[in-house]
Amino acid sequence: MALFFFSPRFLFFSTIIPFLVSIALYRLDTFDPAPLPADALVYSTNSTPPLLNDQLLTGAEFIGVALLNSPEDIAYHRDSGLIYTGCVDGWVKRVKVLDSANDSVVEDWVNTGGRPLGIAFGLHGEVIVADAYKGLLNISNDGKKTELLTDEAEGVRFKITDAVAVGDNGVMYFTDGSYKYNLHQFAFDILEGKPHGRLLSFDPTTRTTRVLLRDLYFANGVSMSPDQTHFVFCETPVRRCSKYYINEERVELFIQDLPGYPDNIRYDGDGHYWIAMPSAATTLWKVSMQYPFVRKLTGMAAKYGFEPMFMENAGVLQVDLYGKPIALYHDHKISHITSGVKIGKYLYCGTLLHSHIIRLDLLKYPAR
Ligand SMILES: *[C@@H]1O[C@H](CO)[C@@H](O)[C@H](O)[C@H]1NC(C)=O
Ligand SMILES: *[C@@H]1O[C@H](CO)[C@@H](O)[C@H](O)[C@H]1NC(C)=O
Repeated sequence: MALFFFSPRFLFFSTIIPFLVSIALYRLDTFDPAPLPADALVYSTNSTPPLLNDQLLTGAEFIGVALLNSPEDIAYHRDSGLIYTGCVDGWVKRVKVLDSANDSVVEDWVNTGGRPLGIAFGLHGEVIVADAYKGLLNISNDGKKTELLTDEAEGVRFKITDAVAVGDNGVMYFTDGSYKYNLHQFAFDILEGKPHGRLLSFDPTTRTTRVLLRDLYFANGVSMSPDQTHFVFCETPVRRCSKYYINEERVELFIQDLPGYPDNIRYDGDGHYWIAMPSAATTLWKVSMQYPFVRKLTGMAAKYGFEPMFMENAGVLQVDLYGKPIALYHDHKISHITSGVKIGKYLYCGTLLHSHIIRLDLLKYPAR
């Protein structure tokens, strides 16, 4: 028996056969990741801000504990002082936040029956929701009526309606992360490394949906500029945000080579955008983004239940109107921060993983 382990037969069964089977499986698998553009694989310190708080969780308070199931985006309604957020169970919830975080009040407002991600306010007080599964929704301000505005463009249905901003002209600017994969499968879109995302607009006066840009890499967050000439949008796997000039229909780079993978972006009314990053660009990410075959193996393993995303060290980057980094708030102990918005002295963070909103007092715990 002992001899068997050293025999050619053992070698054949233990090594060569599994090796050949793996190669066959790899070859047969149709999942076919592509190389990413070269500028998406540059890692410099250009986007490293002068100010840093690398312990975002220290001193942070939790809002709506156990009442908010994965609150992805956060929208602040100035008139009522309420925070609107979309949860994984379909609820758009309203949160009355108080100085004492534990006393905050959460209201189940409207259930879309889908997965509300991006939230913005229309010109007449209505709530516009980018629902990953349903499309772009209009919820009347009394919460009584939910109407589908659009769920396709140029004959192609949205698969991950992701984020939305409303211009002073009433037009909605929004993203479809992917026309190929739905939210449940979004990891495959990232791993595949092909541009299935679109930037779109919906004009409520003509009720037309337009494709502004196609071939985007997982088109994600959108935020209007304060002067309304353009808006900024994020592309997650290529770690960049761009400006779209509305009248000129022109794109310009806003910030690239981000320290992480951007999700939602929010203007704070005070000269700064806040870009949430659910994960930093860790070594594991860098390697898999560099090599399509690593992403292919990861994707194959994911089909057998392996968790394909190595999310780590989430944070929020504060940048000025020119895309110049100002401050980064992050923490190695947290992942999946999907939105960050500054309201008064607080930074509020939405998340895809936790059952609360995270709040940090920026005066008490500033970046230095
Ligand atoms: C808020 O609630 C948490 C969890 O129940 C508790 O640990 C914390 O001390 C409370 N904070 C205040 C200020 O009451
Ligand atoms: C949203 O619906 C409300 C009524 O339910 C309507 O008054 C409003 O104009 C709609 N907004 C858009 C952008 O379609």
